[in-house]
This record gives sequence, C-alpha cells and structure tokens, in this order.
Amino acid sequence: MSNRSLEMSVFVLSIFSLFVFVLGELGQSLPNCPESRCGSGPAIRFPFRLKGQQPNYCGYHGFDLSCTERNDTLLELPNLVKLYVQEIDYVYQVINVSDPDDCFLRQALNINFSASPFRFKDDLLYNYTLFNCSTAERNLIRNAPCLGAPGYEVYAIPGFNRISEYTLTSCTKMYDILSIPYIYSYEIYPEMSNASRNIIQLTWSKPACGLCEAGGGRCELKSDGTELCKMSHITPRTSGASTKLIIAGATLGSFLLLVAFIALYHLYRADRKEKENQARIEKFLEDYKALTPTRYTYADLKRITHQFKDKLGQGAYGTVFKGKLSSEILVAVKILNSSTGNGEEFINEVGTMGRIHHVNVVRLVGFCAEGFRRALVYEFLPNESLEKFIFSNDGYHHSLGWEKLQDIALGIAKGIEYLHQGCDQRILHFDIKPHNILLDDNFTPKISDFGLAKLCSKDQSIVSMTTARGTMGYIASEVFSRNFGNVSYKSDVYSFGMLLLEMVGGRKNIDVNVENRTENSNRVFFPEWIYDHLDRGEEMRIRIEEEGDAQIAKKLTIVGLWCIQWFPVDRPSMTIVVQMLEGDGDDLAMPPNPFNSTGMPAGRHYHQELPVISEVE
Ligand SMILES: *[C@@H]1O[C@H](CO)[C@@H](O)[C@H](O)[C@H]1NC(C)=O
Ligand SMILES: *[C@@H]1O[C@H](CO)[C@@H](O)[C@H](O)[C@H]1NC(C)=O
Ligand SMILES: *[C@@H]1O[C@H](CO)[C@@H](O)[C@H](O)[C@H]1NC(C)=O
Ligand SMILES: *[C@@H]1O[C@H](CO)[C@@H](O)[C@H](O)[C@H]1NC(C)=O
Ligand SMILES: *[C@@H]1O[C@H](CO)[C@@H](O)[C@H](O)[C@H]1NC(C)=O
Ligand SMILES: *[C@@H]1O[C@H](CO)[C@@H](O)[C@H](O)[C@H]1NC(C)=O
Repeated sequence: MSNRSLEMSVFVLSIFSLFVFVLGELGQSLPNCPESRCGSGPAIRFPFRLKGQQPNYCGYHGFDLSCTERNDTLLELPNLVKLYVQEIDYVYQVINVSDPDDCFLRQALNINFSASPFRFKDDLLYNYTLFNCSTAERNLIRNAPCLGAPGYEVYAIPGFNRISEYTLTSCTKMYDILSIPYIYSYEIYPEMSNASRNIIQLTWSKPACGLCEAGGGRCELKSDGTELCKMSHITPRTSGASTKLIIAGATLGSFLLLVAFIALYHLYRADRKEKENQARIEKFLEDYKALTPTRYTYADLKRITHQFKDKLGQGAYGTVFKGKLSSEILVAVKILNSSTGNGEEFINEVGTMGRIHHVNVVRLVGFCAEGFRRALVYEFLPNESLEKFIFSNDGYHHSLGWEKLQDIALGIAKGIEYLHQGCDQRILHFDIKPHNILLDDNFTPKISDFGLAKLCSKDQSIVSMTTARGTMGYIASEVFSRNFGNVSYKSDVYSFGMLLLEMVGGRKNIDVNVENRTENSNRVFFPEWIYDHLDRGEEMRIRIEEEGDAQIAKKLTIVGLWCIQWFPVDRPSMTIVVQMLEGDGDDLAMPPNPFNSTGMPAGRHYHQELPVISEVE
C-alpha cells in the first residue's frame, strides 16, 4: 500500500469512526458531572456539588451548595450557619464567603468547624469580646454596627486590647467569640467596601485536588470513595447506555479502533509533553544556577576590588568596598568582621538573599567563605542609602521632591510585601530603616542588609525570638516585650511606618544619641507632633513647593501613622499599605492616636525608657 492510500484509508476510517463516536455521544443518557453554577456565581464542580441538582457522587460530604432564589450560592455549615459563596479557588482550595447580611460577627458565634471540612484560611485568629453599650463610646473604635439597634450599640473588642483601656461605663459584656479572623472595622478601614470587609476566606485540606487542578486536571470520585485526578477534560462516559444505540458489531469495531487510535495519539502526546517538561526543568535549573549566588575565593575578591582600594563605608558588621566583576557589572563587597557573631548573620544573609528576586530587594551576586574570612557580594547601587537623602540639610532631600519620595515609599512597601508574601517562605527583615534602603540610578529603592532577617513558614503567625532585634527608633513595641503582642510580620510594618514618617519629616524621629535623656521637652517627637497637627485638621506645611505636594505629604503621614499603631493587629498588612499608597489618599481615615492610649508609655519616651526584655523560649 502506498503512503497515499494509507493516509486515505486512515482518513476514511477516522471520519467513519468520528461519525459513530458522535452518534455514541448523542446517545449518552447523562453526562457524569458537568460544571454547574447559580446564575453568574462561581463554577461548582468536584468536590462541591449542587444539592438537589447533582447526584451525590459529584462531590464530597460537607461540600453541598445550593442556589437561593436570587441566584446566590449558599453554603450551609453546621449550627445553621448560612454563608454566600463569592468565589471558589480550586487550585489553592480557598473559598471566599460572606454573610448574607454583611454581618459576619452575627454568624461567628455559631461557627463550629468540627463537623465540617472547612477551616479559616487566615493564620492569625483573634478573640473578640462583644459589648452592649447604651451610649456611643468615643474610645471604642470597633463598632459592629450591624449588630446594634436604635437605643444601643454593639462593640467588638479584640482580645489583644486590654479592656481596661476603655471606659466601659455604659456597657455590658455580651459574650466572647473565639478564634475568628481579623474583623476590618468600619472606623479603621472606611475605604473598604462593606462587602469586601465582610469576606471571610475558608480553606479545605481534603480532598486535596489543588495540584490536579493546577495541572489542568479535574478530580472525580472513585467508587471506593477516594478521589481520582483525570488529566483529560473529557469526562468518561458510561458504556452501558451507548451500547444500546450502537447496534451493528462493525460499528462497535470502528469505535474501538478509534479509541485505540486516540489512545495511541494521547500516548504520543504524553511522551512529547514529558520531553517538553524535562526540557523546561533543565532550563529552569540553568536559569536558577545563574540566579543563585556564586561562591568566590578571597583571592577573587581581592581582584574584584582591586586590592580593596575603594572603600564605600564601614558599619557594625563590616567594611564595604566597591568592586568590578566585568566592565559593566559593579558590585559592593561587604567584608564581615570576623570577630562579630558566630557566622549566623552570614548564613542568614546568604540563605535568605539567595532565594529572593525582586526589583525592590538588593541582589546578592555572590559570597565568600574561606576560614574566618566571610564576605557578601552585592549589586552596586550608585546612589547609596536613603538615609543620605532624607537626613541631610544640604539640599539632597529637596531635590528628590514629593513625587519621588512617594515612589520610593511605594517601592519599599512593595519590597517588604514581597518578602512577607511573595516567596514560599515568609521573610521578616527586622531591620527596616533608611540606612538599609539603597537607591539605584533611577532612585528605585532596594532593601538591603538581611543580617537580622528571619525565615518562617507562611502559616506560622508568631515568631519566637530570644533577643530583641533591630535598631533603636524602628523597633516595634512587641519586639521589646511580649506584653504588647506577638512578634510577627507586623513588626516590619512598624519599622516601615517610622521610616515613612522620617521621609515626611526629613529628619530622625528619635535622636537616640541625645545626652540628657530625662527631660527633652523642647525636642519634639515628630510622629506625635504631626499626629496632633493632622488631628486638629491643620494643613501640612512641610517643605511644600508644588501643588499636590501637600496631598502626598498627608497621605504618607497617614499611612505612616497607621503603621506605627501600638498593637500589632491594628497595623495594616503590607498588602494594604501598598494599596493605601497607590490610592490618591483622599479616602484614608485618620488612624487612632498611637500615643495617648492609657496604660502605655508615651510615644516620645518609650524607646528610651523601656528596658529591653529578653524573651527566652
Ligand atoms: C438565575 O439564573 C438563571 C440562569 O442563569 C436565570 O434564568 C434567572 O433569571 C436568574 N434569576 C434571577 C432572579 O436572577
Ligand atoms: C477573596 O477574598 C480575598 C480577601 O478578601 C481577596 O483578596 C480576594 O481577591 C478574593 N478573591 C476573589 C476572587 O474575589
Ligand atoms: C462543636 O461541635 C461538636 C460536635 O459537633 C461539639 O462536640 C463541640 O463541643 C462543639 N464546639 C464548640 C466550641 O461549640
Ligand atoms: C483565645 O481564647 C482561647 C481560649 O480562651 C485561647 O486558648 C487562645 O489562646 C486565645 N487566642 C488569642 C489569639 O488570644
Ligand atoms: C442591649 O442592651 C439593651 C438595654 O440596655 C437591650 O434592650 C438590648 O436588647 C441589648 N441588646 C443585646 C443584643 O443584647
Ligand atoms: C457601610 O457600613 C457603614 C456602617 O454601617 C454604613 O454607614 C455605610 O453606609 C455602609 N456603606 C455602604 C456602601 O453600604
């Protein structure tokens, strides 16, 4: 048979088989479990099932959904808790749910996950105490308006706030709600829509079909009750029904032939796909090798730095020299003092920096570890640190301008957000300050100095620390003493807030070198001063030159003040900070005063007067 006629007969056979196949398809009585949805709601498929519309085998126990009259997707949890499902993420196994009346607190008391496959997705959960108050309490900023009624108001006070801070004269305690996600109150986040304020994220761990979904597959139930990942999107058909329609044996034969043909084709495709995958992995490894830091010898460093000729600076941890890798690539070589530490900082920095790549994080090019000699090689940034630009009186700060300052602030915020969220592990920097922000040619900020950084898994919400880390003036209260809350990523948010206020003020918030520490009444603690200023509704008049400057200055100030809230949970996450900085700032609410709550030391003094408390686990 010639090639041509072979092709021809395959073609005819295929057409014929296709015809039979289509006939068979039409004859199917009931497809397995097609995706379903309520109106324009999220797609419903395994492990979820639509009660009353899909047979039981389409989903898992506990994943029953139903449609309301208004086409909302309803999830019923034990204890008669009814929630609307806004979104289902099958890959990450997360659903966004909301209370039908946008009043999650009303339902929260009844939520009991012990007989449900779901959990809260948030890693940080809080206890709230609800109070019934006959008159509005000015101090209580955590109103739960949806629970109130004419004649009384209900407040939800998170457990980390000591109740004694509030004057609860006209209130009676109602009850506690334990372990629920953070409630974004209207007073603190007025810019948030009431709907998104009420979205709660739930997650499930079994069945674990996320990987299958990520690979383009779909899970379905096997007869033994476990799930099976099908990579093909064509759902399998039951053959019983089709045989009824396929009468002629010859037809069946063709059908089988086609199946064999398709199977062969898929086998071929799968093989090719596998080869493609391998190539992709190889390429990734190649790229990865290029991205991971190179190990240099001490002799290399001598050559790179021209015998350590060009000294850029000296710090507590070592000396920095300028170097040249090639004609284009300039580097900064930080030779670490061999006397300090036991190498932990070195391991920290190489370990942390080797795995992160972000435009707002300085890149580690290489390192050297030869006996007691240790060095880190970084990309060189010609403009040096932000400190130089914001704390100098010789016009540097002036020349940056408010637009640029805003861009820099946003860049730093994005860098920190990336450290907190962007990698497979959370990276806490613990030493955010102007000195550790480097600027490149275009004044793109880059976070540097990861000597104090800590790596922790993303679902670990609390960090244990044996000593307070960081730099005076930027350390959050909880890093000093656990009385104020647990150490977490919110500690970086605090440092960022202090940095932001220094950018606004153009000077240090606190001068830790002041000789006379007891009474400096003529020295103003800038964050406190500017808070009072804004609180009285006064115009910002700090180095304002152009139209729009005042607005930027005000926005940066408000964001900064949010970040330096005394209790970690009152500080926004970096994701929210980025959103705040990206907006025009008109709708930002004035934060509560971080300085005058009773029971805490006045902001001006606490950095100098609080003893550093070691926390030994
Ligand atoms: C609900 O969705 C269905 C199907 O999309 C549609 O026919 C019906 O009009 C919707 N009902 C309402 C109340 O929106
Ligand atoms: C789900 O909720 C989270 C938190 O509110 C939000 O960031 C996310 O965008 C939501 N997802 C969708 C798809 O709406
Ligand atoms: C949750 O429900 C289970 C039984 O379904 C019960 O044993 C448990 O005590 C409940 N937990 C709470 C906190 O109500
Ligand atoms: C909430 O209260 C429970 C029980 O009283 C306690 O075990 C838990 O540690 C508290 N959680 C927080 C975050 O305070
Ligand atoms: C709150 O207290 C008022 C009286 O002070 C009472 O009438 C009202 O029912 C209470 N509300 C709740 C939800 O307990
Ligand atoms: C959101 O809730 C607040 C407090 O209950 C209310 O004053 C405001 O009108 C609500 N906004 C919208 C858009 O519903």
